[in-house]
Amino acid sequence: MYIAHTIAELRDHLAAFERPAFVPTMGNLHDGHLALIRQARPLGDVTVASIFVNRLQFLPHEDFDTYPRTWDSDCEKLRTAGCDVLFAPDEKALYPEPQTCKVHPDPALADILEGHFRPGFFVGVCTVVMKLFQCVQPRVAVFGKKDYQQLMMIRHMVRQFALPIEIVGSETFRAEDGLALSSRNGYLSEAERAEAVQLSKALKAMAQAVQAGERDLAAIEARAMQALAQRGWQPDYLVLRRRSDLQAPSAGEPLVALAAARLGGTRLIDNLEIDAMPS
Ligand code: PAF
Repeated sequence: MYIAHTIAELRDHLAAFERPAFVPTMGNLHDGHLALIRQARPLGDVTVASIFVNRLQFLPHEDFDTYPRTWDSDCEKLRTAGCDVLFAPDEKALYPEPQTCKVHPDPALADILEGHFRPGFFVGVCTVVMKLFQCVQPRVAVFGKKDYQQLMMIRHMVRQFALPIEIVGSETFRAEDGLALSSRNGYLSEAERAEAVQLSKALKAMAQAVQAGERDLAAIEARAMQALAQRGWQPDYLVLRRRSDLQAPSAGEPLVALAAARLGGTRLIDNLEIDAMPS
């Protein structure tokens, strides 16, 4: 695996390829990331991953400084998964001057849910992804569906700027008990890890209520919030939204249940697509 630490090194190396397939990450890789790499491999003539913990997408009180940096094991895992090129710039290499030119995604999508609870988060995400796209110039990029709103935002950005990149969404990789894999799961104590599965269970309960024909979505959401809160969680949101734009749905539209909740000091997110709501 070739490792590029600067944009110039990366561009030199990738000049020989026509169809890079790209998986951007912030490192601390788990099996979910490796599934993205494996999914990317047949889609291009070279598989590129990036590791960059992007300060722009962290709020001042969030975990930028303590975000786990696990360089050696990340490289080992990428090699084993068949990644060809790793782009691992430091902050000076990617942001040699303050990144004052930023991508401001559509507020209708960027300021709700994650964007509401983490203001500026999607500006940081879209800005770094746009910059990484300029560096790698991929023809295809793979993102996990666990970050559902992020995936939608990237698709929208790519469409609006007519970037010649196919965006592929990859199914969420789950532990045996159903917990969606996330780098932040590493923050959970043993007891919290056992409890964490309740988030995906709450989403399943919401899906079952919809599929059983219950029409009062607000009541389903309130019940899910209450159930988690009673178990000691601090939920930010558990909502049922229209899949196409994450707004309030009408009858008959495909839905997605989305959740974010804090367990102890760890904020977890997850989602579940639900077949059309009964009309
Ligand atoms: O999903 C992530 O890990 C990050 O938001 C991304 C897409 C790598 C941008 O920093």
